[in-house]
Parts: sequence; C-alpha cells; structure tokens
Amino acid sequence: MRELLRDAEHLIRLGLLFAAGLLVFLVVRAQLVPAGFGELGHFRAGAIGANQEREPRFAGRAACAECHGEPAESLAAGGHAAISCESCHGALAAHAAEPAEIPGFAATARALCVQCHAMNRARPAGHPQVEPVSHAEGAACTDCHDAHAPGL
Ligand code: HEC
Ligand code: HEC
Ligand code: HEC
Ligand code: HEC
Repeated sequence: MRELLRDAEHLIRLGLLFAAGLLVFLVVRAQLVPAGFGELGHFRAGAIGANQEREPRFAGRAACAECHGEPAESLAAGGHAAISCESCHGALAAHAAEPAEIPGFAATARALCVQCHAMNRARPAGHPQVEPVSHAEGAACTDCHDAHAPGL
C-alpha cells in the first residue's frame, strides 16, 4: 500500500485542489442563487408575483372602444380590422386609466404607415405595399387614406 501511495502523492494533491475548488463553487453558488430558484422550474419562483404586481402598459382594444366608439367601429369595418389600437398609438394603459391627466397619443401618420407598408421584399407578397416616394409624392398618407379604415 505504502509502495502504491508513494507514487500517487501528486494525484492526491490534485484531488485536494479539486475538492477545494468544488467547495468554493458550492459556497459561492449558495450565496448567489436567489431564494425560490428551481422551485417551479429553471427560474426564480418569486418572479411571477413580482411581474403580477407591475402596472400593465397596454390597456387592450376593448378598453379603448369603451370611450372611442367611432374610431373602434371604423377600424373594425375596414382593412385594418386585425390591428390593435396600441400597435399604432403606443402603449396607452395610463391614458385609459386617467384620460384627463394623460393625453392619448396620435402617431405621426407618415412614418407610422411606411413602417408597415413601404415596399420590402421580405414581406409576404399579398401584403399591400407601396413605394412611398412615388406613391404619395411627399403628401401625408392620411390626406387620402383614413388611418382606421384605409381602403379608398
Ligand atoms: C376612460 C375613457 C378613455 C379610454 C379608456 C381611452 N381614452 Fe383616449 N381619450 C379619452 C379622452 C377624454 C380624450 C381627450 C378628448 C378627445 O380628444 O377625445 C382622449 C384622447 C385620445 C387621443 C387623442 C385624440 C386627439 O384628437 O388628439 C387618442 C389618440 C386616444 N385617446 C387613443 C386612445 C387609445 C388607443 C385608447 C386605448 C388604449 C384610449 N384612448 C382609451 C378617453 C379615453
Ligand atoms: C393603423 C394604425 C392605427 C390603428 C390600428 C388605430 N389608429 Fe387611431 N389613429 C391613427 C392615426 C395615424 C391617427 C391620426 C389621424 C390623422 O391625423 O388624420 C389616429 C387618430 C385617432 C384618434 C383621434 C382622431 C379621431 O379619429 O378621433 C383617436 C381617438 C384614435 N385614433 C383612437 C383609436 C382607437 C380607439 C383605435 C382602436 C379601436 C385606433 N385608434 C386604432 C392610427 C391608428
Ligand atoms: C402595424 C402595421 C400597420 C400599420 C402601422 C399600418 N398598416 Fe395598413 N395594413 C396593415 C395590414 C396588416 C393590412 C391588411 C392586409 C390584409 O388585409 O391582408 C393593411 C391594409 C392597408 C391598406 C389596404 C386596405 C384595404 O382595405 O384593402 C391600406 C390602403 C393601408 N393599410 C394603409 C395604411 C395607412 C395609410 C397607414 C398609416 C395611417 C397604415 N396603413 C398603417 C398593417 C399596417
Ligand atoms: C394622393 C392620395 C394618396 C396619398 C397621399 C397616399 N395614397 Fe395610398 N393609395 C391611394 C390610392 C388612390 C390607392 C389605390 C390605387 C392604388 O393602388 O394605387 C392607394 C393604395 C394604397 C395601398 C394599397 C396598395 C395595394 O397594393 O393594395 C397602400 C398600402 C397605400 N396606398 C399606402 C399609402 C401610404 C403608406 C401612404 C403614405 C406614404 C399613402 N398610401 C399615401 C392614394 C394615396
């Protein structure tokens, strides 16, 4: 046995070094991993509650329609029926809760329209697209198209 160990000393040192490394890892891990991690999956269980407590930033189409019946009706009837109010107007939950305090935001029409309708090979062929410069010649898109019911 003594014969065997004599030549293995360097291996024992190496083993001790590994054990020390493992110990440091376990101590540091215990310090850094937040409470609740792993309880429900590979995330911090408390994150669900923390997110539930945040104020929603989007009110949703139904909320907008309660106060803005006319735009909601024309939107539902036209070519933009599938698009939600807040895709164009931005997140407006704060406005929906306190319209007198926080104004609604009417987007800058031309920049907004071009974002979805400028000619682009990456879009599906069936999506209505125009060459903004030649199509509108610098005019505001809303001179001819109603933003909510854009068909002519
Ligand atoms: C509780 C009622 C209420 C809700 C809900 C509400 N608004 Fe408003 N909104 C108002 C009032 C009041 C005004 C200011 C008066 C006006 O211009 O009609 C206004 C103004 C606006 C304006 C500016 C109009 C302009 O001419 O400048 C926009 C755009 C708008 N709202 C969009 C929205 C959107 C989108 C939603 C849904 C996220 C929404 N609003 C939810 C009451 C509401
Ligand atoms: C495709 C983008 C788009 C969508 C979707 C959209 N809007 Fe608008 N909205 C606009 C633009 C652009 C204007 C400014 C029009 C102008 O200046 O002629 C506007 C104007 C308004 C205004 C002020 C003028 C008016 O017509 O009364 C209100 C209020 C409004 N939108 C509410 C809504 C509501 C509510 C919804 C959802 C039911 C909605 N919008 C969906 C782009 C959009
Ligand atoms: C968030 C993306 C988005 C924005 C912003 C947007 N559109 Fe659209 N638009 C669409 C989609 C999606 C359709 C429907 C395509 C379909 O029915 O297959 C559409 C359809 C249209 C059509 C064809 C309507 C019809 O009845 O055939 C016109 C014209 C149009 N949009 C003009 C505009 C104008 C003007 C603006 C700016 C006020 C605008 N769009 C803003 C996505 C957008
Ligand atoms: C001077 C009036 C005018 C202006 C300004 C205008 N359009 Fe049009 N638009 C039309 C007419 C007319 C049509 C239908 C005939 C056609 O397809 O050219 C149309 C059609 C469209 C279509 C449908 C194309 C299709 O393939 O079905 C889209 C999308 C569109 N416009 C987007 C826009 C955008 C975005 C702007 C602003 C950059 C804009 N328009 C400005 C008059 C206008």
